[in-house]
Amino acid sequence: MTRYCYNTAVTLDGFLADDADSLDWLFKQTFDEDGPGSIKQFMTGVGAQVMGATTYEWIMKNEPGSWAYAEPTFVFTHRHLEPVNETIRFVSGPPSGHRAAIEAAAGDKGVWMLGGGDLAADFARAGMLDEVIVGIAPVTLGSGRRLLGGAFDLRLEESDRNGEFLTARYAVVGPLGTR
Ligand SMILES: NC(=O)c1ccc[n+]([C@@H]2O[C@H](COP(=O)([O-])OP(=O)(O)OC[C@H]3O[C@@H](n4cnc5c(N)ncnc54)[C@H](OP(=O)(O)O)[C@@H]3O)[C@@H](O)[C@H]2O)c1
Repeated sequence: MTRYCYNTAVTLDGFLADDADSLDWLFKQTFDEDGPGSIKQFMTGVGAQVMGATTYEWIMKNEPGSWAYAEPTFVFTHRHLEPVNETIRFVSGPPSGHRAAIEAAAGDKGVWMLGGGDLAADFARAGMLDEVIVGIAPVTLGSGRRLLGGAFDLRLEESDRNGEFLTARYAVVGPLGTR
């Protein structure tokens, strides 16, 4: 069975980005790229990525010309966006409608859900989210783009420290009240 994992950095008060989609709060933190919660290590098990349009546009705007992923990426959008290369597929509608294509693209590896939080919740409601891995930064924003747009029970599986981050891996149990 293909495993779906939502792996992201987050503020202590549960935001992925501020109201203007800035990640300035994130880039000032110290982090050992080879330490606990290493994205490099995580990527060795990833066969495909999924993300929402805002996240894709953030990468296009802030990291132009440097698409970091060789694996197929499914970008959920209602609009016609320009693909940065042939690995990008634009899709829309419920995640379940794309399950077969995403899992075929991932092959024998897992799927990285990059965000945002409402799309991640749609994946969880569709039974397409097995784990949430977070690097929690010691900062609060008060408002912004939320980590997860729904009510779910999770189970803490692992925790550690990396630089300024508390890293934690949770299993998704199901809708709140499942446990
Ligand atoms: N902290 C981190 O490490 C981290 C990680 C990931 C993301 N981020 C940041 O967090 C923010 C997330 O933005 P966001 O909350 O707006 O979430 P998002 O999921 O990146 O984008 C949301 C947009 O995706 C499209 N979409 C979502 N579900 C869809 C569906 N089922 N069908 C078709 N289109 C769909 C819609 O755009 P349209 O209707 O306009 O097409 C929607 O407005 C971004 O700023 C991103 O850069 C941070």
